[in-house]
Amino acid sequence: MPSTVLIGGQWGDEGKGKIIDLLTEDVDFVVRMQGGSNAGHTVRIGSEEFVLHLIPSGILHENKKCIIGNGVVLDPQSLFEEIETLTSKGVRVGENLLISETTHIIFPYHKLLDVLREKLKGSKKIGTTGRGISPAYMDKVGYMGIRAIDLLDEDVLREKLRTNLHEKNLFLTRVYDHESLDFKEVFTQYCEYGERMKPFVHDTAIILNEALKNNKNILFEGAQGTLLDVNFGTYPYVTASSTTAGGACTGSATGPTWIDLVVGVVKAYTTRVGSGPLPTEFPPEADFVDRKRDREYGSTTGRSRRCGWFDSVILRHSVRVNGIGAVALTKLDVLDSVPRIKICVAYRYNGELIRDFPNSMRVLGNCEPVYEEMDGWVTPTSDIRRYEDLPENARKYIERLSELIQAPIEIISVGSERSQTIFRGEPLVRRGSSARHAAVRLPVGVEERRGPTMAGGPPRRPGRPGGQGGGVRT
Ligand code: IMP
Repeated sequence: MPSTVLIGGQWGDEGKGKIIDLLTEDVDFVVRMQGGSNAGHTVRIGSEEFVLHLIPSGILHENKKCIIGNGVVLDPQSLFEEIETLTSKGVRVGENLLISETTHIIFPYHKLLDVLREKLKGSKKIGTTGRGISPAYMDKVGYMGIRAIDLLDEDVLREKLRTNLHEKNLFLTRVYDHESLDFKEVFTQYCEYGERMKPFVHDTAIILNEALKNNKNILFEGAQGTLLDVNFGTYPYVTASSTTAGGACTGSATGPTWIDLVVGVVKAYTTRVGSGPLPTEFPPEADFVDRKRDREYGSTTGRSRRCGWFDSVILRHSVRVNGIGAVALTKLDVLDSVPRIKICVAYRYNGELIRDFPNSMRVLGNCEPVYEEMDGWVTPTSDIRRYEDLPENARKYIERLSELIQAPIEIISVGSERSQTIFRGEPLVRRGSSARHAAVRLPVGVEERRGPTMAGGPPRRPGRPGGQGGGVRT
């Protein structure tokens, strides 16, 4: 019974909400392990649309437990707004929602400092969502964060908040020329939040590990995307958390040996919001994406997304740093009316051909994409449900992407409805680790850079009879 980590393969907004919702059918627990209410997972069920920022999308399913893990930074105001919206639409939020005792809490000063810092940076701003994410993680690693469990103890909260607010008010008044925040007001508000949060707060490390031992199916729901990861993204144009698969372990108290499969959700083209390099960004005359029709406005901030061609250099990096074993390719239908399609296969910088993701943002920001071109399919795909019924050129596109990124494309989404999905093979969550062994042909010129494979298949997984860990990355 597998544990599956689902992450975004690009800069977020890959359409993870819908894929998470589909995979949730087969799991018992859905776990959020990083980020905060900067995320926006959109799920459409019939005529109803749900946008979830903090609460795992599993909440929309009966009988699923949803965990907000220790790796998340939680804004109580946002949490209660979300709970109210969900309950007003008839969704039950009760003992099915569990919040880790060690989840860090976002305070008003985090949100304020986020906005003021961006303002101060002027043209060098990151383009954050203004939700206080980076300031909250700064406090966490600066040993001054306040955690969910601290909200439940007034004395602890009083002491920590007094110390923190003293420092934050110095920043607010002396650096940013802003008025200070009132201790009593914040304290009273957060005592109230603590009271309301109490029924949800648990030692989720114990609950989750019991579930793993009892062979429950777990889906780890990543937010944002690989290129926004604080370690592996386009730093400093990133978010403050580990958005890659490794974040599932540190953000939820799950040992890496429990993870069976990493699913990467990848859009059939590229988008990003906020500042930072985007090598394949469309010049205005080639931009075929209709932001409204194709839903390319941020679901959290409403900002128009920057769009570009599919970038396989980015994706090879993503497959590598996440250990992606299966890809869900989304929004293929957006390409339905494009007569010629480009795929970025490498970059050129100062006359040199670059095939691997460059860590220098100077290189990434100034490189020229090298494109392969192919004919589009110019046929609607939204009503197609079987892979073999896709137009030949659409299949050629998918197969070429798979070859270039060195990962099997197992799910193809051709619209926002649950039903607008093409599955290739067995449902992923049930199949688990076998997805790792799907044969993928490598792109020409890549073979010589492959590392040694593990002869004799993957080692047996510790702790779970008959389980498998590690594995051959093809
Ligand atoms: P922050 O996470 O609000 O600090 O923003 C840092 C960067 O991550 C900015 O470029 C944001 O636009 C981007 N970002 C944060 N959350 C998301 C998301 O859910 N989707 C896409 N981009 C995001």
